[in-house]
Amino acid sequence: MAFDIKPIDPATRAFFAGVVSGIDLTRRLSDEEVAAIHAGMDRFGMLVFHSQKLDDESQLAFSRQLGPLETATGDIAAPEDRRIGMDLNDISNLDKHGKVVARDDRRRLFGLGNQLWHSDSSFKEVPAKYSLLSARQIPPSGGNTEFADMRAAYDALDEATRREIHDLVCVHSQIFSRGILGFDEFTEAERQKWAPVRQRLVRRHPTTGRLSLYLASHAGGIEGWPVPEARAFLRDLTEHATQRPFVYAHVWKPWDLVMWDNRVTMHRARRYDPNEVRDMRRTTLTNEVSSLEQAP
Ligand code: OGA
Ligand code: MN
Repeated sequence: MAFDIKPIDPATRAFFAGVVSGIDLTRRLSDEEVAAIHAGMDRFGMLVFHSQKLDDESQLAFSRQLGPLETATGDIAAPEDRRIGMDLNDISNLDKHGKVVARDDRRRLFGLGNQLWHSDSSFKEVPAKYSLLSARQIPPSGGNTEFADMRAAYDALDEATRREIHDLVCVHSQIFSRGILGFDEFTEAERQKWAPVRQRLVRRHPTTGRLSLYLASHAGGIEGWPVPEARAFLRDLTEHATQRPFVYAHVWKPWDLVMWDNRVTMHRARRYDPNEVRDMRRTTLTNEVSSLEQAP
């Protein structure tokens, strides 16, 4: 079957969330295929590929064909407790022996932060470009992932708000996002490693030229603003940006690979039974520059 990308829901979201057919991600891609994936990402902001039987090695090989990767320095597990290498983020509820972690396990509680709307690695000075999430094993129900189109959200803002936010800079940290859920058991080393970083609130996509709202639960302040006022405003903007017409909810099948552009989307995990196995692994392309260098 020939390579093709179609909107998943042409009637309501013709320009957000595409589904790709006619490609096998387990083998080396041609230059044309790589270019077609980038073009599809520019158009749709996120792509779904079904039935891709990737293991860690083939996921890494495929991801590296799209660009340089970042490492999993945002994960909380100690290196000796990790199940997989630092080139992949472990988005599972498993320990290194493959057992489901306890309900009150620190890694699980930290990971629940993924249920808040966010953009990956916005808490790093150089944040993420694409994330590629491979579903190896999924629970029988729940555990969807939702995605919001931050280009459409920006376009739907009124003129006065666009003017007001044009040059605002936010501070992002995992300490802020986890704090929302009442998780604050960070070591001094973690507090230093995840000290706040600066990111623009509005950024321009380098290829399409479109503007997006760059929001995440990691954003805990706006430079020059009183903290409560900043957080109330960021909450309003997030509510605006995640209205249903801007959101696609992905219902996982085993061996789905979902790829999203963190420059133009937010996403969040949904709940599932903590006794069921959910094994997902994420490779992440680095944005290579800060959002501060992608001014509107
Ligand atoms: C991620 C993430 C959501 C999910 O992989 O970055 O936020 O549903 N995942 O697991
Ligand atoms: Mn994420």
